[in-house]
Amino acid sequence: MKNMIIFGDAQNMQELENNSIQLVVTSPPYFNAPFDYPDLFESYDEFLKLIRNVARELKRVLEEGRIAAFVVDDTLIEGRKYPIVADVTKIFIEEGFKYRERIVWVKPEGYIRISKRSGVLLQHPYPMYYYPDNLQESILIFQKGDFNYKKIPQELKEESKINLQQYQQEKWYLNVWQITNVLPTNNRIEKGIAAFPEEIPYRLIKLFSYKGETVLDPFMGSGTTLKEAGSLSIY
Ligand SMILES: C[S@@+](CC[C@H](N)C(=O)[O-])C[C@H]1O[C@@H](n2cnc3c(N)ncnc32)[C@H](O)[C@@H]1O
Repeated sequence: MKNMIIFGDAQNMQELENNSIQLVVTSPPYFNAPFDYPDLFESYDEFLKLIRNVARELKRVLEEGRIAAFVVDDTLIEGRKYPIVADVTKIFIEEGFKYRERIVWVKPEGYIRISKRSGVLLQHPYPMYYYPDNLQESILIFQKGDFNYKKIPQELKEESKINLQQYQQEKWYLNVWQITNVLPTNNRIEKGIAAFPEEIPYRLIKLFSYKGETVLDPFMGSGTTLKEAGSLSIY
């Protein structure tokens, strides 16, 4: 097992060779999300430029047929929603990826952390006061070309076999995943970082990579992807 952390800009991953990565699991900063990234970007266009540059780099470093999974959500700033899910999808398609799937990640009710917008209607129980609370995010699955299933030796397939009992019981087969989110902490590593729960990279690594392969998170944050990639590689 080898873990490598590179301090740098995901828009230029010169340390990584072309076609050297088998899976990308990541979550970019959500534009200027009020709690986590207020004023990080000067404009929405600047955010979209970052996503495009990273998409280009990922197209270069990913092996043919492989997956880039992006956890994203639309961001609400001062009453206006920014269509991040739609724009990230469009950019990845424009940069030559195949848009393969959108999985909706649903968080348990009661774990809402940003705002209880639905309270507005309780105070004003009339039409036009409807602002629902947001309980979901999207896991966008993009693919670079076609995967050659014949290239994987049978022995490696067996070593990387998916636990069908877990697949059935935990309903991995649905494109709606019910997973508890990580609430913000004052922990030194996770402070100010919108970390995703370990279950997300865990499932994606199991579903889209073979044992011993290389997983990249270009927006590493607290390192949840690395942690899961590392612990899965020793099973
Ligand atoms: C949403 S967080 C990722 C959280 C991560 N999935 C976790 O579980 O901790 C996005 C991260 O991207 C980092 N980031 C922002 N711009 C970046 C860039 N240009 N290159 C690399 N990382 C960047 C931010 O500092 C932040 O840590």
